[in-house]
Amino acid sequence: MSFKAPRGTRDIFARDAQDFSILERAASEIFRNRAFIEVRTPIFEDAGLFLRSIGQETDIVSKEMYLFEDKKGRKLALRPEGTAGIVRAFIENRFDLSFPEGKFFYGGQMFRYERPQAGRYRQFNQIGAEYFGNASPAADAEMIITAFEILETAGIKDLKIHINSLGCQNCRPLFRSELIKYFSSKTDLCSDCVNRLEKNPLRLLDCKIDSSKFSGVPAMSAFWCPDCRENFETLKGLLSSCGLSFETDDKLVRGLDYYTKTVFEIRSGQDTLAGGGRYDNLVKELGGQNTAAVGFAFGTERVISAARNSGSLNSFAQKEKVFIAIADEELFKEAFAFSIKYSKTGGVCVSGPVNGKSLTSQLKFADKIAADKTVIFAKTEFEQGKIIIKDMKNKTQSEQQLQNII
Ligand code: HAM
Repeated sequence: MSFKAPRGTRDIFARDAQDFSILERAASEIFRNRAFIEVRTPIFEDAGLFLRSIGQETDIVSKEMYLFEDKKGRKLALRPEGTAGIVRAFIENRFDLSFPEGKFFYGGQMFRYERPQAGRYRQFNQIGAEYFGNASPAADAEMIITAFEILETAGIKDLKIHINSLGCQNCRPLFRSELIKYFSSKTDLCSDCVNRLEKNPLRLLDCKIDSSKFSGVPAMSAFWCPDCRENFETLKGLLSSCGLSFETDDKLVRGLDYYTKTVFEIRSGQDTLAGGGRYDNLVKELGGQNTAAVGFAFGTERVISAARNSGSLNSFAQKEKVFIAIADEELFKEAFAFSIKYSKTGGVCVSGPVNGKSLTSQLKFADKIAADKTVIFAKTEFEQGKIIIKDMKNKTQSEQQLQNII
């Protein structure tokens, strides 16, 4: 019997795993510079939490959740995104009372039962942030700027910011009923859109199948109340004052129901790397105090892939790999101690020694693991305080004082 990683998941080794660490470290530094604090929440939560927050009619909840019951019959779900869990933690730990202006960042695995394709997995990683207690568009601007800075730091060159406002509970209902009127006259909608029309008409704007048929569709901007209009103008002004260019995008609605007012995405070519927006009602809806909030998340795999396409991340210098070999078995202990001490310098990547192998097979092994150099412990040289260094690329050899190496 042979086993394979489940469809939509993958094993991540070596350089690929290292890119995750590099990106996570760079992002957490940028977050900390802006006074965000780290939060880690469970990978599974009460399934009802996602239903209540992301929305029952969204694709994520209706089609893509990994649901299961535990031994006591509790209905649980692997988290499909981070925001709902952070809001649950924010309320449960009473931050809504003690620390309502909390700024949090997080990272980790998310799970969605989607059709796997390039940049779309069933288990994937996100890095994200949530900013509570600030209703000003300055908080929206700070989140967009922070997301952009992380993606820029990863070296991605062709970034485009798209922004829109979905309005608030005062103006969105008007837009919603205009949309229903507009779409009800269409007879050729796909089956998903027919369903959405009743339950979530805004989502029709996002339909990949029908979007070409929607010329003349009403624009949300025509329905904004004065407050939403002013917020959006302020946000644009703040982004411009920081030198960021952006596109306003009337059809940007996002795939989660909790958004109010500002929504945004950052794209590289056709790929959406990051998405987010304001969700001022969610903390209250989930049982907390009325608390404004705005956040974003990006897909770590997608960002790494875009960074590689831009030729960055690769540019992080690889450390020289050194293999420690022994020409005489009795020197194993000395070589082993040296190997540990040498690796602690952090300047090189050290492998070996291994015992019970001839020097020839140790050198073959060094070639196999693509060592740049092999340090050989041999009795005659060692007695003079020296080791042999073999350059594995051009096959030259030299001797050096052992004490000079570290
Ligand atoms: P989202 O747009 O659903 O938003 O996901 C954010 C990012 O996660 C996407 O832009 C994409 O890069 C990545 N992503 C999503 N699904 C997959 C997948 N199947 N495979 C690989 N990457 C994927 C959210 O999750 C919201 N929680 C963002 C947010 C935070 N809004 C407010 N606060």
